[in-house]
Amino acid sequence: MNIGVLGAGSWGIALTVLLCENGHNVKVWSIDEAEVTMLNEHREHLTKLPGVKISDKVICSTDIKTVVEDTELIVMVVPSVFVRSTIKAAAPYISNQIIVNASKGIEEDTLMILTDVIMEEIPGIKVGVLSGPSHAEEVGKLMPTTVVAGAVDKETAMLIQDAFMSDNFRVYTSPDVIGIELGGALKNVIALAAGVADGLGCGDNALAAIITRGISEITRLGMAMGCCSETFGGLSGIGDLIVTCASKHSRNRRAGVLMGQGKSYKEAMDEVNMVVEGVYSAKAALKLSRKYDIEMPIVEMVNRVLFDGLSAQDAMIQLLKRNRTSESDKFESDRFDW
Ligand SMILES: NC(=O)c1ccc[n+]([C@@H]2O[C@H](COP(=O)([O-])OP(=O)(O)OC[C@H]3O[C@@H](n4cnc5c(N)ncnc54)[C@H](O)[C@@H]3O)[C@@H](O)[C@H]2O)c1
Repeated sequence: MNIGVLGAGSWGIALTVLLCENGHNVKVWSIDEAEVTMLNEHREHLTKLPGVKISDKVICSTDIKTVVEDTELIVMVVPSVFVRSTIKAAAPYISNQIIVNASKGIEEDTLMILTDVIMEEIPGIKVGVLSGPSHAEEVGKLMPTTVVAGAVDKETAMLIQDAFMSDNFRVYTSPDVIGIELGGALKNVIALAAGVADGLGCGDNALAAIITRGISEITRLGMAMGCCSETFGGLSGIGDLIVTCASKHSRNRRAGVLMGQGKSYKEAMDEVNMVVEGVYSAKAALKLSRKYDIEMPIVEMVNRVLFDGLSAQDAMIQLLKRNRTSESDKFESDRFDW
């Protein structure tokens, strides 16, 4: 296939390497002239994915028309805040290509998932999503990885599966696009909390608690939004949450650690020096929890630490001292059966 990748950060480059290995013709777009010059001169992203070489066959350009025209598949992989502006810029050159969203986030103002943002900008286009536990650092080295390709029609999901699937990169399909997008966006917020706990000196028990209670918050919201509960027990749900909360590659977790050690989120983002999606998704997650009237205590505390000046220590205390409750809403009946 002829494939255009929009975004040349660590994930864009890792996916470029994978797609090239799969025998596709790949072109990569970046808005940043200096980034494209570096990629063309060194065939490597020296700052965001060092040690991963890009084939000489890959065309890197700042000209979105060159990258998008004459392709069958477009991969959207810019930070979530730039998805709308990027698809707007690409729209004049998109006719019948399939677009696969590999970015993770929720648009803060509209609370839209990113595939919906893309469809709003180009009505009638076929769109899918690719998500799961997949750090660029490992995918770029072709290390074993599993993800899920979601699309409302099976044909689109299977086309995405075919394009990405390799001996090291296993792709499942699913029709639950909203569930997949929600899991991918909200795990970054929970990973900030996991990092904060680590920065405070909490141990593995706290980490397991944040992962477990985190997926229960995400699932509650997802069910209210009409998603399938299985999605949250799958790769784009608990799978991605585990890797993002626990991996040394997780920048959201790393930013959280710095905040747990007393830094502001701005200082933490500067130090991590890569996009920390959880900071952007935290407000959207809180707004969604209010819109659907769902209790999301970890999301709430992350927001208060990020934006209201609550100390990490006090947030942890407040989470532990919440009102007593059952483990699941299902166990709330007086008869205590289910
Ligand atoms: N890194 C991973 O392992 C990974 C894995 C799965 C999904 N993702 C998702 O992929 C998306 C991209 O993340 P990343 O890790 O590649 O980020 P990154 O921090 O490595 O790179 C960010 C890139 O954004 C681009 N950019 C900056 N300003 C822009 C603008 N105004 N318009 C368009 N592009 C602009 C730059 O080219 C820069 O390279 C995020 O949504 C992230 O959640 C990342």
